[in-house]
Amino acid sequence: FWMKMFYSFLSVILLFHYSCGEVSQKTFPDGFQFGVATAAYQIEGAWNEDGKSENIWDYATHVNPKYIADESNGDVAADSYHKYKEDIELIKNLGANFYRISISWTRLIPDAVEGSKLNEKGVAYYNNLIDELIANGIEPYVTIFHWDTPQSLEIHGGWLNETIIDNYIYYARQVFNLYGDRVKKWFTFNEPKQICDQGYETAEKAPFMRLHGVGLYQCYHNVVRAHGKIYRIYEKEFKPTQKGEIGITADCMFPEPKTDSISDKEAAETYIEFNYGWYLNPIILGNYPPIMIEKVDKHSKEEGRTTSRLPKFTEEEIEMIKGTFDFLGVNHYTTVLATFGDPESFENPSQKRDCGVEISRDPSWKPSVASWLYEVPTGFYHLLMWIKEHYNNPRVIISENGWASDSPDIDDVDRVQYTTNYLSALLQAIDDGCNVVGYTHWSLIDNFEWAFGYTNRFGLVYVDFNDPNRTRIPRTSYRFYQKVISSRRLTS
Ligand code: NOJ
Repeated sequence: FWMKMFYSFLSVILLFHYSCGEVSQKTFPDGFQFGVATAAYQIEGAWNEDGKSENIWDYATHVNPKYIADESNGDVAADSYHKYKEDIELIKNLGANFYRISISWTRLIPDAVEGSKLNEKGVAYYNNLIDELIANGIEPYVTIFHWDTPQSLEIHGGWLNETIIDNYIYYARQVFNLYGDRVKKWFTFNEPKQICDQGYETAEKAPFMRLHGVGLYQCYHNVVRAHGKIYRIYEKEFKPTQKGEIGITADCMFPEPKTDSISDKEAAETYIEFNYGWYLNPIILGNYPPIMIEKVDKHSKEEGRTTSRLPKFTEEEIEMIKGTFDFLGVNHYTTVLATFGDPESFENPSQKRDCGVEISRDPSWKPSVASWLYEVPTGFYHLLMWIKEHYNNPRVIISENGWASDSPDIDDVDRVQYTTNYLSALLQAIDDGCNVVGYTHWSLIDNFEWAFGYTNRFGLVYVDFNDPNRTRIPRTSYRFYQKVISSRRLTS
């Protein structure tokens, strides 16, 4: 009898252990939040309606349509300015916990500069949007700046001119005053690299400038200081009553070393520091990454300069900026292979020259229609572990992740496959101790994909851009994500 009891006891223990193991691999932890994201210029349309003024994307796409692959623009986009209730209905049926939106600066403050008037219709639009979300049980997550710099500020240098910091602070304060009673998650900036590197160095994004090796350093310096200052203002003036949280969204492409060599491992680390370390290091650890300071100073000297291209923070600025995040927003889509390239082969004394890393892709990786996006879920896992190790395991919200297709592709099995594999890598990272508390799929609906126009679609929901009604049709991936959210499990 005792032997029998012992064996049944043992089998219960083993069964429990086994099922726990299985469950922890496949089930999302309690409290884990699911969401979807979009951004103002990419979906709203109504570019000059109800008092909105021009931003750099309105301006650039109108002045030179050739900046955009299909010569399109965001004038109408998915027309969400008029159809936001339909979008919210889709999110409600999806079962998502939150919707990450951005606010259009020029819709809210058409003159953009400090002290200028609010546009009441713009104020009302976001009030209605936020209220409608809350009425449907969806929490609004708000990005304050998602790349749509007011054109009136761009002609004074945009993010190259430090006076933009005070204008941004004025704008962000209005946003907290207007919506902070209902919005509890704020993102100061979306993907600084795209603002600075692609905006002022490689000319892949508005304002489409090539200021070889100068502009991007100034731009990052202003973005990081604006981030730090607005965090401190929120912390002191708004947080005590509004009780929200504020962070930043980092664009984290992960570099795997091209080979096992020490040099390639160093190249991968260098690549990280010259991409997201550029702003995350000051925000999390204080100051620019040491390797960056060292390299840029060295190259500047070699070029015969006594000062570095990399601007310097004052000691007070370092202290002010350090620790300015309540959570870290991580946008992650893909992975590259990193190795050092021949410095002479880089065109100019710019980021590439200073960073010196050449990237490529493994031929076995599955490509999407977006030239930069390959499916490499292991890179996602490695990124999360890297963040855990290097930044002291911060609380992370995956603020974007998604897959591109180029046709209606209603039965989008590739997107389902990609998302399954990336969610699985995410669960593995959580199992291994990463503090990830939420996941956001980019995007709810197809939208204006910047310089790729409407040729790259990221939506869980298809939008017919030829139809004046901008009809929306949920894809297979929408049903898939709906099931993940309702079951809180990854079953396939
Ligand atoms: C990141 C950006 O935040 C978003 O605007 C863009 O559409 C997606 N990545 C896809 O490229």
